[in-house]
Amino acid sequence: MHKQRAVEDKPGAKWPRLLTSAFVAFFLAACDEQEVLEEGAYSVPDPTRAVIDYAESALPADANLASIYERSCFTCHSRAGSGAPLTGHARDWEARAGKGGLDKLLRSTKQGLNAMPAMGLCFDCSDSELIAIIEFMARDAAE
Ligand code: HEC
Repeated sequence: MHKQRAVEDKPGAKWPRLLTSAFVAFFLAACDEQEVLEEGAYSVPDPTRAVIDYAESALPADANLASIYERSCFTCHSRAGSGAPLTGHARDWEARAGKGGLDKLLRSTKQGLNAMPAMGLCFDCSDSELIAIIEFMARDAAE
């Protein structure tokens, strides 16, 4: 009996398990932290003066798209400080698209996103019209 307890209490018997759980806890914490960092990693330089000027006046070349854009998207996406990604601020659009690409951008336009109303206020727009306008807005002002 005495001997058995001595074995149980031997530090070497317990340590490996304690160490393992300490490592697991450490790695879990590290993973959590990384996820938070990645979520917060959305950081894009402010639009330059040239981008702001471009956004104030650029229109899609296609007349139909231009009229949709002017009537629906322009109010917010042409004005710096509106909270909307600026037309021509390609870095912002790229970061927003991320891995989901155009599909992701189309989805958030249709559903609405925070201050952006669903369909970007163009309720009779088709997917292809929205996509064409998003492509236009996401193009680099300098190109
Ligand atoms: C009333 C203002 C407003 C109008 C009108 C508007 N938007 Fe937006 N839009 C925003 C704001 C604000 C954001 C940024 C939302 C956020 O990230 O919180 C945004 C973001 C977006 C995004 C990026 C979505 C993402 O996943 O990050 C797309 C794409 C977009 N708008 C497309 C359009 C299109 C196309 C139109 C016109 C058909 C339009 N918007 C009209 C305000 C507007």
